[in-house]
Amino acid sequence: MKIAILKERRPHETRVAATPETVKKLKGLGVAEIMVEAGAGTAAAYTDEAYAEAGATIVPDAAAAASAADVIFKIQRPMSAAEGTDEMALLRSGQVLMAPLSALTNRDLVQALAAGGVTSFALELIPRITRAQSMDILSSQANLAGYKSVLLAANHFGRILPQMMTPGGTLAPSRSFIMGVGVAGLQAIATARRLGSIVTATDVRPATKEQVQSLGAKFIAVEDEEFKAAETAGGYAKEMSAEYRAKQAALVAEHIKSQDIVITTALIPGRKAPVLVSEDMVRTMKPGSVIVDMAVEQGGNCPLSEFGKTVEKFGVKIVGPANLPGELPTDASSLFARNLLNFITPMIDKDTKALKIDTADEVVKGTLVTRDGQVVHPSLAQA
Ligand code: NAI
Repeated sequence: MKIAILKERRPHETRVAATPETVKKLKGLGVAEIMVEAGAGTAAAYTDEAYAEAGATIVPDAAAAASAADVIFKIQRPMSAAEGTDEMALLRSGQVLMAPLSALTNRDLVQALAAGGVTSFALELIPRITRAQSMDILSSQANLAGYKSVLLAANHFGRILPQMMTPGGTLAPSRSFIMGVGVAGLQAIATARRLGSIVTATDVRPATKEQVQSLGAKFIAVEDEEFKAAETAGGYAKEMSAEYRAKQAALVAEHIKSQDIVITTALIPGRKAPVLVSEDMVRTMKPGSVIVDMAVEQGGNCPLSEFGKTVEKFGVKIVGPANLPGELPTDASSLFARNLLNFITPMIDKDTKALKIDTADEVVKGTLVTRDGQVVHPSLAQA
């Protein structure tokens, strides 16, 4: 089996899907050749020399890497010609693509992969079961993003986060409000606490209350009957009713007036992000406050946030990061690469060292999107 690691071409991307560490481990598992496109890891501080030392072959361009590969690793879904660079043209029939594809919201891409005869695995669909925790790219990247979101907020904030007693007088501690307490939100709470901020947090899933409290933050939410049933069997949030959203908005509107830093992380799988911080709420916030909208790519939790930009509205800075894990490219690549290594390892046949796709396996079933010219994923095939 030959694996290709391509340099990512999507704007704002600095990460890479394999590191010298995982290249070495893949070679150890019997992968015959790993072709790394020259410069693929440069932005993440992994040099061509380090990959070569780990056993990779450095090839001059993406086409040379992809053409000879059986399996292609990427950290971003391939771009189409319409998006500026035709990465889809690099793929050929019979090849296997392992990458985050945002498959549920990119139907055209999935169709194109099927039409091209590419066998594709959408890594964002790895089921959240115990066995697959070490493969969970959403968690590894969200965790780092949650950490970075607080640092970004702190950088844009004209004050310090902790209370500080100085000979000249005492500086009051900041107040941070984390909206959405999934993986990113929990790490944001922990990071803001470590920096000395007074932290409150909200979510619609009841399980988060105890998690928030165990991190030393205060939980704030409308805890009605709908809240008690807001978690799906898969552990995700449901879309809330208009009545709930109105009650939630009233509570948030009151609370947000006194906050300095607001980090929004709320997502609902396969849907547009819920609006949690309205323009009217931003108007009531203190001048100099900072909002980091981590959901900006999915439409945003604040309608005033702009993708990839920091804007100032009514004296409040609103940050819309384009790729937060990409702002920590070395660690984000390292964790992603290990996730992908853990994902492919059970698929490498011990004797032949070839890729063996067991469609009865729960992780394979959950992630296999296209095969033999067909869209095969249950959530996509029926649509
Ligand atoms: P996510 O990124 O889909 O959403 C972020 C947060 O936003 C969630 O906590 C969600 O409840 C919240 N949210 C959605 N709508 C909201 C609203 N209207 N108001 C306030 N908050 C709202 O979530 P993430 O980080 O992917 O985690 C989802 C679940 O998966 C969690 O229960 C997490 O603990 C669980 N998980 C399980 C793993 C496993 O392997 N067993 C691994 C990682 C996460």
